[in-house]
Amino acid sequence: MSEISLRRGLASDIDFCMTTERLPGYDVLTACWTEVEHLRALELADTRYLVGGYAAGPLFGFAIVERVNDPHEGAKLKRIAVTQPAVGFGVPFLRAVIGWVFESTAAPRLWLDVFVHNARARHVYRKVGMREDGLLRQAYVQPNGERVDRVIMSVLRTEWS
Ligand SMILES: CC(C)(COP(=O)(O)OP(=O)(O)OC[C@H]1O[C@@H](n2cnc3c(N)ncnc32)[C@H](O)[C@@H]1OP(=O)(O)O)[C@@H](O)C(=O)NCCC(=O)NCCS
Repeated sequence: MSEISLRRGLASDIDFCMTTERLPGYDVLTACWTEVEHLRALELADTRYLVGGYAAGPLFGFAIVERVNDPHEGAKLKRIAVTQPAVGFGVPFLRAVIGWVFESTAAPRLWLDVFVHNARARHVYRKVGMREDGLLRQAYVQPNGERVDRVIMSVLRTEWS
C-alpha cells in the first residue's frame, strides 16, 4: 500500500473539507460546518486540521482535532471524513492522525464520539485500537429530527505504539 501523506490543514483546504463532509449519505454519519465555522475553528489555538492523501497525490481525507492542550480528557477527534469510503484509505489515515497527535502534542489520550449506527466508523476505530468508553444516550438530533445515541471511544497515549 502507498504511504499516507499528512499535513496541517490551511484555510485553503476548507473548501475540500466542506465538500467532503457534505458527500451523499454523510449527513446521518457526521456533522458539517459552514465556512465561517470552519475558519473560526481553524484559528483556535488548541485545534488542528489535518489533511491527507497518498504521497503527493490529491487529498483523500481530513480530520479536525480539538482541545489538544486538555490535560484531563486529552485531544478530541472532532471530525474525520474521506472522499471515498470503504476503499482502504481511512484506516491508515486515522493511524497517521493518531500518530501525529501523540508525537506533536502532549495529549494523554485521544477520544471521540460516534453515532451508534455508524458501523463502518466504529469498526475502523476499533481496528486502529480505540476502545469504547461508554454511551451518551439519545444525545444528538439528526437532520431528520431523530434522536440517536453516541458511543464514546478513546485510545490512551500509553496504549499507542
Ligand atoms: C469513517 C471513515 C473515515 C473510515 O474511512 P474508510 O476509508 O471508509 O475506511 P477503510 O476503507 O480504511 O476501512 C473501512 C473498514 O470498515 C469496514 N466496513 C465497511 N462498511 C462497513 C459496515 N457497514 N459496517 C462495518 N464495517 C464496515 C470495511 O470492511 C473496512 O474494514 P476492514 O479493513 O477490516 O475490512 C469513512 O468511512 C468516512 O469518511 N465516513 C463518513 C464520515 C464518517 O462517518 N465520519 C466519522 C464520524 S464519527
